[in-house]
Amino acid sequence: MAPRVHPALLLLLFCVSNARSECDNTTLLSLQIDALLAVYDRETPPAARHQINASMDVRHATINEIDSTARMLADLKLSWNDPRLSWNATEWDCSGWMVPAERLWLPDVVVMNAAATSAGDVSLRARLDSDGTVLWIKRLDLTAPVQLQLRDWPRDVQDVTFKFGSRMHSVQELDIVVIDVKNSLVFEAGAWEMLSMSSESTLWNREGMDLRVVTWTVHVRRRAPAHALATGVVLIAALIMLAGATALPPLQRPPLAAAAALLTVVWLVWWGSRGMAAGSCPAAAVAMCSACVLAALLGACAALVGRVASCTTAPPRLLRALLSRVSGLCDLTPHSDTLSSEQSAAWAASARLLDRTLLVLFHLTGFIIAVVYF
Ligand SMILES: *[C@@H]1O[C@H](CO)[C@@H](O)[C@H](O)[C@H]1NC(C)=O
Ligand SMILES: *[C@@H]1O[C@H](CO)[C@@H](O)[C@H](O)[C@H]1NC(C)=O
Ligand SMILES: *[C@@H]1O[C@H](CO)[C@@H](O)[C@H](O)[C@H]1NC(C)=O
Repeated sequence: MAPRVHPALLLLLFCVSNARSECDNTTLLSLQIDALLAVYDRETPPAARHQINASMDVRHATINEIDSTARMLADLKLSWNDPRLSWNATEWDCSGWMVPAERLWLPDVVVMNAAATSAGDVSLRARLDSDGTVLWIKRLDLTAPVQLQLRDWPRDVQDVTFKFGSRMHSVQELDIVVIDVKNSLVFEAGAWEMLSMSSESTLWNREGMDLRVVTWTVHVRRRAPAHALATGVVLIAALIMLAGATALPPLQRPPLAAAAALLTVVWLVWWGSRGMAAGSCPAAAVAMCSACVLAALLGACAALVGRVASCTTAPPRLLRALLSRVSGLCDLTPHSDTLSSEQSAAWAASARLLDRTLLVLFHLTGFIIAVVYF
């Protein structure tokens, strides 16, 4: 029986034997490449109109909220065709070789909207293919301003935009084509999670010259489960306190309303002290402010109702007529039973009526805020 050879082993043997046979004589190849580059002028572009293929590989993206900037570490892969750098792969017995990038003509593709902390490492090597294709990778470490959109805080998604283009070549001379790499996403475990990346290609007219501008937008989402939990708990506690307060008689309401207001104010002070410069306000902060104002209104309404109930002057005739009409529709029996005179009974009933009206308005306000904002 013939011995069975594993297919992976066969593949490995094939690769090793192939690697041996191709580009093996490095001394000879270096001489050949040197001869090729000796007659090559790296100052002149490969053609009057040339096309650069570009793709972006993001390794790291994060946002600094204090100064509203985004930082991105990425590889910008540029490839183009330079017929002067082609050779006969059969004669040379080699189809690709690495050469120092500074010996080649390099396209003028730079970042336009951000500050590059290290603008591409030119000492990196470029890969030449026998058909004249050059692949050059620019290492990028970029910082760009972002306008934070905090509406969905703490589950907000921010768009970080980086624009690239040529500074002096018009689109007729140098055109950039974005090649989207499907598996270029990285999954980091930092405070920001990269969701996706999109690209867009536009023309920008500068002094009568059309320039190609390529925009890459990285979408990152904040990861702050503790903030989401704490905010939810504070909001629910404040709403329960407000709901409880509306169920109490007017004079017992203020302490609960004050506690709800204090709780939300503490949250707002904490959030405000984070000092974020942003283009929008979180919905959570709007909810806290609303709860705080509603609590204050509830306390003020209770005070007004108490003031009306303790009136001692003779009630106007109009009020009496109103009370007798409304008492048929709803129960206006006062809360306290220590009523001495008919006069104070009338005021107590009108306080009850005022209280009911204000509570209806209060619930309506809460409802309108909820519908408009959330
Ligand atoms: C590489 O090529 C040179 C020039 O043709 C030759 O002298 C040398 O023996 C070759 N070396 C190998 C390892 O084949
Ligand atoms: C550029 O991309 C196009 C297709 O998107 C491809 O046909 C062409 O060969 C690429 N050119 C280079 C130099 O990589
Ligand atoms: C490359 O060289 C081989 C051998 O010298 C020759 O047969 C072939 O036609 C050449 N190919 C091209 C594209 O010139």
